[in-house]
Amino acid sequence: MNVHDSERMLGTLRKEGHVPVNDPGEADLIIFNTCSIRQKAEQKFYSALGRTKHLKKRNPSLKIAVAGCIAQQEGEGMMKRVPYVDFVIGPQNIDRVSDTVMQGFGIFTDENPDLALADDTAERDNAVRGWVNIMYGCNNFCSYCVVPYTRGREKSRPVANIINEISELSAKGYREVTLLGQNVNSYSGEVSFPDLLNRISAIGRIERIRFVTSHPKDLGEKLVSAIKNVGKVCEHIHLPMQSGSTKILNLMNRKYTIDSYMDKIRMLRHEIPGIAITSDIIVGFPGETEDDHQATLSAIKEIEFDGIFAFKYSPRPMTGAAGMQGHIGEDVKSKRLAQVFELQDVITLKKNKALEGREMEVLVEDADEGNKYSGRTRTNKIVNFSSERDISPGAIITIRIEKSFRHSLSGIIVE
Ligand code: 5AD
Ligand code: SF4
Repeated sequence: MNVHDSERMLGTLRKEGHVPVNDPGEADLIIFNTCSIRQKAEQKFYSALGRTKHLKKRNPSLKIAVAGCIAQQEGEGMMKRVPYVDFVIGPQNIDRVSDTVMQGFGIFTDENPDLALADDTAERDNAVRGWVNIMYGCNNFCSYCVVPYTRGREKSRPVANIINEISELSAKGYREVTLLGQNVNSYSGEVSFPDLLNRISAIGRIERIRFVTSHPKDLGEKLVSAIKNVGKVCEHIHLPMQSGSTKILNLMNRKYTIDSYMDKIRMLRHEIPGIAITSDIIVGFPGETEDDHQATLSAIKEIEFDGIFAFKYSPRPMTGAAGMQGHIGEDVKSKRLAQVFELQDVITLKKNKALEGREMEVLVEDADEGNKYSGRTRTNKIVNFSSERDISPGAIITIRIEKSFRHSLSGIIVE
């Protein structure tokens, strides 16, 4: 979401005649697009910000803007705390970035009811795969999460805006879109999310449709059947489990039990054999006992995700969990995180090894100067291969997997 917000700010500024430079020392404007999901992200930002202070001395006309979730969270406090910051732009106001620059100084953190109506101005980094917002904000209030406070309430983009944008991408030669939202299956434009997938699949050259992120509580049969039956929708779902303990899931306000989560996994695998399932896990949530942690490890073992992102719980301002009893020590969190990774690494490698010998459809994304190429399978696995003849990014080819690693596969072209 943040990467795409940056693409949008870049596109807006380019339209106004600004151009990007490689060296921050040459810039008249530096924008930090920040994340506040965990404390570590915040710390990284503050140290990067500190490194730009001296640039202002060298170039007195340099403006420094802080955008994104830390901007929203800190608001006016950011300007007080760091006097050399000129603008503070919350994630709902990214489209106003050029007004901001014109005005020279300001704080833009208001709730923006028109956000979902804005045209996407993104200047994308990748010419094959594009991120496309379908909704903004979140109404779920998971007790650990700052996003509902920084990105505001859910707002869905009108169907026509989404279709227009994807049609333009198709005309430019894009082959894949990833629909973006904090909780895409609660999309509530004029049609349901599964119907939106159907509409998008009618768009010309787009061959692959992905979406992130889905909330397990909203994953129903209609969406499963859309993944199964709409040919362009890829066989991959990112379905954050967060914990394997129903007690912790309750404290997290996730609104599902581990049994109902497992039922959904079974339904997905039954209906869509070979579907890749990835997940997010938080270890060390307040009140997490050794038994709760073991329940998470057992669930990971039983489900066998294709891959996970796992994090140590990090207390966030404004959130319910920050004030809960039973915060877990850093050393215990680190130990639990290491155990989760250790277990998952074995599973990921085992799942990838099972693909050796299989032929898979790969969308080619990158070519380096030599004869080396890379792309992704429909299940979102990275595949490296070589080819004596030139292949253009955007081509879809069949590769036989010869060797699997934890983070990638390698193979040869099937003629
Ligand atoms: N601490 C740790 N992880 C978090 N996430 C969200 N908030 C926190 C937090 N306070 C994780 C969740 C979410 C992913 C995007 O980030 O697992 O799914
Ligand atoms: Fe945060 Fe939960 Fe919303 Fe995801 S669904 S953005 S974890 S509050």
